[in-house]
Amino acid sequence: MILKSFAKINSLLYVLGKRPDGYHELFTLMHKIDLFDLIEIERNDGGLKFSINIDELNNQDNLAVKAARLFFEKTGIKPQVSIEIEKHIPVGGGLGGGSSNAAYTLKGLNELFDFPLSRGELFEVAAKIGSDVSFFVEHGDAIAEGRGEIITKVKCNTEGFKVLLAIPNFSVSTAFVYKRLRLTKLKGLNKMALTVKDGLCSMHELKNHLHNDLESVVLKEFDLLKWIKETLIKEAGNGLVSGSGSCVFSILGSEVQAEEGLKEQLETRGVLCKTVNFAEEILR
Ligand code: C5P
Repeated sequence: MILKSFAKINSLLYVLGKRPDGYHELFTLMHKIDLFDLIEIERNDGGLKFSINIDELNNQDNLAVKAARLFFEKTGIKPQVSIEIEKHIPVGGGLGGGSSNAAYTLKGLNELFDFPLSRGELFEVAAKIGSDVSFFVEHGDAIAEGRGEIITKVKCNTEGFKVLLAIPNFSVSTAFVYKRLRLTKLKGLNKMALTVKDGLCSMHELKNHLHNDLESVVLKEFDLLKWIKETLIKEAGNGLVSGSGSCVFSILGSEVQAEEGLKEQLETRGVLCKTVNFAEEILR
């Protein structure tokens, strides 16, 4: 079985406070985008075999390995599978690659072994792996609250819109960003977030109200990301750091003609530029 493990962007990310468990209380709207890693899962003669085409990710802490281990532990099924991942999503870019790999591995294994885990159990396991994993268990776009594990599906009208991704050649640690966040400076949910919470989500409006509370840290620490954001706003009308970075994105409507010139400008400073659609997932 071969699965597409999609990346995400956060169009809204509000940090609402610090929790007693050390994590932060969130409200974030996430969208899957058509940038994906490929996960191949096959039955073998025995054991759990794992390989990935990036050496640093080929270890026991890999979230996909963690997902597979928890799946076999929870179901009691004897592990006899090989999992191979071909990475295309930038690592440490705020696009959720590792969490996505974990969620799709979990869903893939569940399908391969004829659905021993219920939907509820999949979410339970996902929350144990990491804060962003639950979002990828769900189909399509969604609001994530709590630590990131409370998911509400949102139908966003993304037709006619694309995402321009600016990908710098360095990664950012999520834990690093949260540690430097000054909570007193945050203002809480704005009108756009409340509208989305009510189930109304139009990309046409949303693209003018993008918001990320983690940006205050990221833009202060990394000058290049500040420059990318300013350039995107100037040339495409909007720009936002995704999650804790390092990637910055713009939502492009069909009226934006800036693409080529923008790509050239970003590439002069070593920033890779990619335009992708919003993802269309096949229901599994
Ligand atoms: O849950 P996950 O391991 O993906 O989170 C990575 C890091 O991000 C955590 O160690 C924590 O420092 C921070 N985090 C947080 N609050 C969240 C999600 C993540 O403080 N809701």
